[in-house]
Amino acid sequence: MEYLDAIRGRRSCRNFKNQPIEKDKIHIMLEAAIYAPSPANRQPWEFIVANNPIYNMRLKETSEKTKEKLAERSGWKWLPTFNIDFLLQVPTLIVVVGDPSRNGAEQFLDVPSPGYVEACSASIQNMLLAAHAQGLGTLWFTLFEKADARKIFSISEDKDPISIICVGYPVHTGNAPARKGIEEKVKFID
Ligand SMILES: Cc1cc2nc3c(=O)[nH]c(=O)nc-3n(C[C@H](O)[C@H](O)[C@H](O)COP(=O)(O)O)c2cc1C
Repeated sequence: MEYLDAIRGRRSCRNFKNQPIEKDKIHIMLEAAIYAPSPANRQPWEFIVANNPIYNMRLKETSEKTKEKLAERSGWKWLPTFNIDFLLQVPTLIVVVGDPSRNGAEQFLDVPSPGYVEACSASIQNMLLAAHAQGLGTLWFTLFEKADARKIFSISEDKDPISIICVGYPVHTGNAPARKGIEEKVKFID
């Protein structure tokens, strides 16, 4: 697949087939992940691959509560109706765990930036594209409290459960949500 086709064609998937994923496809995703850039090449990521429905059930249960809480706090009317049943359908969850002790020089700036989160995000995007190129659907999922994720996936306090990537075969792929154009988002300063 051409790389621009992969970038344009990737969609967030919220509807998965009841079909396990071949191990080698997950392996290719993880290989793509670890080739992401990171500050000073400190590779501040770890990945937990969960292939047991017990984890899906626990995540769904806590995420429903989180959703209620966030709906109340945000006042967003769509949030209570946002269906997260796909958490029970999806065969594989990849938890992306960041290591806050593995930042680069940017941590010493006057206003430090969280380099480890940025690097983990780059690794996630690599994974999503590698999944899409292999016919898999993914969702970058963040509707959970870190304390809950730590408990469910046995993650220690010094590590940061950044995101959970849902991976499976898509039932259908939707159209791309509208993007604002380059002319609105880019300033050229030649
Ligand atoms: C940091 C981040 C967090 C996200 N969290 C969620 C989430 O918790 N639940 C969800 O359904 N989608 C989540 N998404 C997916 C976005 O909703 C989606 O990328 C966006 O609507 C654009 O759609 P597309 O991915 O199909 O292009 C997240 C995306 C990012 C980058």
